[in-house]
Amino acid sequence: MKQVLIDRYGTPWDVARTADVPDVGDPGADEVVFDVLAFPINPADLWFCRGSYRLKPPLPATPGAECVGRVTAVGAAVKHLKKGDLVINLQRENWAQRRKVKGDDAIPLPPGIDLEQAAMVRINPPTAALMLSDFVDLKSGDWVIQNVANSAVGRLLMVLAGQRGLRTVNVVRRAELADELKALGGDIVVVDGDDLAQRVAKQTVDARIMLGVEAIGGAATGRLADCIATDGTLVHYGSMSGEDPEVGRSNFIYRGVRLTGFMLGRFLAKRSPDKIREIYAGLAAQVMAGTLSAPVDTVYPIEKIKDALAHADKGGRNGKILVSPNGLI
Ligand SMILES: NC(=O)c1ccc[n+]([C@@H]2O[C@H](COP(=O)([O-])OP(=O)(O)OC[C@H]3O[C@@H](n4cnc5c(N)ncnc54)[C@H](OP(=O)(O)O)[C@@H]3O)[C@@H](O)[C@H]2O)c1
Repeated sequence: MKQVLIDRYGTPWDVARTADVPDVGDPGADEVVFDVLAFPINPADLWFCRGSYRLKPPLPATPGAECVGRVTAVGAAVKHLKKGDLVINLQRENWAQRRKVKGDDAIPLPPGIDLEQAAMVRINPPTAALMLSDFVDLKSGDWVIQNVANSAVGRLLMVLAGQRGLRTVNVVRRAELADELKALGGDIVVVDGDDLAQRVAKQTVDARIMLGVEAIGGAATGRLADCIATDGTLVHYGSMSGEDPEVGRSNFIYRGVRLTGFMLGRFLAKRSPDKIREIYAGLAAQVMAGTLSAPVDTVYPIEKIKDALAHADKGGRNGKILVSPNGLI
């Protein structure tokens, strides 16, 4: 079977290759085997290849934090899955044609779900949902501000916020996205820049924004902090710039703004397995209903992993880059 391997850390499309490796074999009693139907290339996967992600395993290593698969074999002790079921995998190393994992790590998805969307259910939808629920007790009509608003997380967050009656200020780096993001439900779309806080105050008529979420880092974190109300919370959950947050101290001293962080695994770990399955069932139902989705730019075969990685690293994409390792989507 084919599997993506990196033999050294470096530029993703230089270091990643598609290798022929032995098949995963039959499942043990508590395991399942599934064919990987599709996986996305997320920013964290690119950092993994570069060696700048929090996990840096010994080499050779296989990237891939999420995927959708179809079960081909089930161990005798696994009762919640059967052959043919669609699953997402809570474990990593998913850039391969086939995976063998513990049954508990395979979360079933409803049959008939759109496979491209299913490949992206594991990480970004719960990230958007839990950032809206776990930091500030928001009520209908309250404002939330976010940057990287055109990202998959950003788009999902603006839809989930709208469903709760929350209003969103969506900060982007490209002005041409405004109409598209407003059509998706974003209330205000602004282009990032030095006078961001003044422009946001004007457009929201001095709204008290109690929650901000940001994934750029560097001075951009500070610009978002300047938009947060006294005693509000800013959640840092990624660093598209590769820089640590730089926030002016007056936000902390004079206004009591709280700067904190989010990592999906840490917030899922606070919940029981039943609750986690319930969260994914709810999100999958929204994907089935068409209310939650992330745009897809291009789907590549696994043999073209280098092209796929170079494309995923480019700004200005029209959505995610996916890979279909078995040519089934
Ligand atoms: N902490 C967690 O648990 C967690 C979970 C999921 C995701 N994340 C983080 O969430 C962020 C978004 O992930 P995603 O999968 O939704 O991303 P994505 O769909 O691949 O989109 C990336 C976004 O980043 C923007 N961008 C790229 N470089 C930038 C820069 N230097 N300055 C400003 N904007 C920049 C792009 O803007 P354009 O649209 O203009 O190209 C695009 O909107 C990433 O940082 C990711 O690591 C964190």
